[in-house]
Amino acid sequence: MGARLSYPEVDLKGKVAVVTGGNTGIGYETAKALARMGAHVVIACRSQERAQQAIERIKLELSEAGEVNVEFVQLDLSSLQSARDFTDNFIAKGLPLHLLILNAGIAAVELGRTVDGHEKHFQINYLSHLLITLNLMSVIKSSGPDARIVNVSSYAATFGKFDPSNMDGSQRYSRMGFYGNSKLFQIMSMYFLQRRIAGCGVTISSLHPGAVDTEISRNFQDSTFWKTVTNVVKSVGVLRSPEKGAATTINAAVNPEFKDMEALYFENCKVTQPVRSARDEATQERLWEYSFNLIREYVDTGRLASVGIELPSIPDTENNHEATGSTGEQNLTTTED
Ligand SMILES: NC(=O)c1ccc[n+]([C@@H]2O[C@H](COP(=O)([O-])OP(=O)(O)OC[C@H]3O[C@@H](n4cnc5c(N)ncnc54)[C@H](OP(=O)(O)O)[C@@H]3O)[C@@H](O)[C@H]2O)c1
Repeated sequence: MGARLSYPEVDLKGKVAVVTGGNTGIGYETAKALARMGAHVVIACRSQERAQQAIERIKLELSEAGEVNVEFVQLDLSSLQSARDFTDNFIAKGLPLHLLILNAGIAAVELGRTVDGHEKHFQINYLSHLLITLNLMSVIKSSGPDARIVNVSSYAATFGKFDPSNMDGSQRYSRMGFYGNSKLFQIMSMYFLQRRIAGCGVTISSLHPGAVDTEISRNFQDSTFWKTVTNVVKSVGVLRSPEKGAATTINAAVNPEFKDMEALYFENCKVTQPVRSARDEATQERLWEYSFNLIREYVDTGRLASVGIELPSIPDTENNHEATGSTGEQNLTTTED
């Protein structure tokens, strides 16, 4: 029997939501559901054209629901400057922010670097989302009570590991391993951020949406192995529709049952425990310091201080490769297809 995927319909009039990657797949269905419930939804996407098409589609599909309020703000998660610009542009609108849905992502791509020199899964799925969360935290906190941040992670976190000596994949690389790392870090960030804003009415969650039939497979069409796996999985009919795949995200974002609860992990719309490796507090704290030092210059530290989040100290970069992520010579060897 399939999982029971449901969430309550709530009134979101007057609420503002940001959904990264809201133009397709799970993000599209999330944005549409939040708009249907009355929220003002900002889809944060890298392609204006794809975003506009998605907005038109949402309006068409919700034409019987009356007025819907969905807009686009540009965001390319592969650039820290773009992530910073996104937060500045959002803040300049003067809107509150009740729901921040960190959904956009890539999966199982070939080893590659962003413009900032980071491994792609690491920055696109995790690091830029962390930057966005930090820069918007003061707005989120002042928009409560019951503001929420939802990290769309994955079961693939099980394959992840925090290994500061190989963050850029130059020692070893596997597509699923590095996808897993980024998804593990999203869950760990839920814990280290929630600790820093405990008791202030902001619920941070993370989740596995299930195996969902979206455009995610375009990421690994260049790999014979992963292409075959996708075709087999699709042919046996185990994938969820994007609509069902978005249910766990929507439930985490809107279900009144979770008000004032903290650091929740969901699967199939139910609270459960994430993988054990995500729950180790000492490792979470090391990841926080490591990550913050990579994005320090893009963080609005004044805003962060205003919500009481202490900044980690600046590492001794000459002797500390771990804290800076520097790995010297880049060797792009991969260990699997
Ligand atoms: N599908 C699954 O089975 C599954 C399972 C577990 C977890 N997830 C997670 O669910 C989330 C949504 O995935 P999906 O399945 O809906 O995939 P999808 O259909 O491929 O959608 C991914 C979204 O992320 C956006 N994106 C990718 N790179 C970006 C960048 N550099 N900057 C800004 N946006 C970017 C895409 O924009 P473009 O359209 O412009 O490319 C798209 O909107 C991901 O975090 C994924 O890891 C999915």
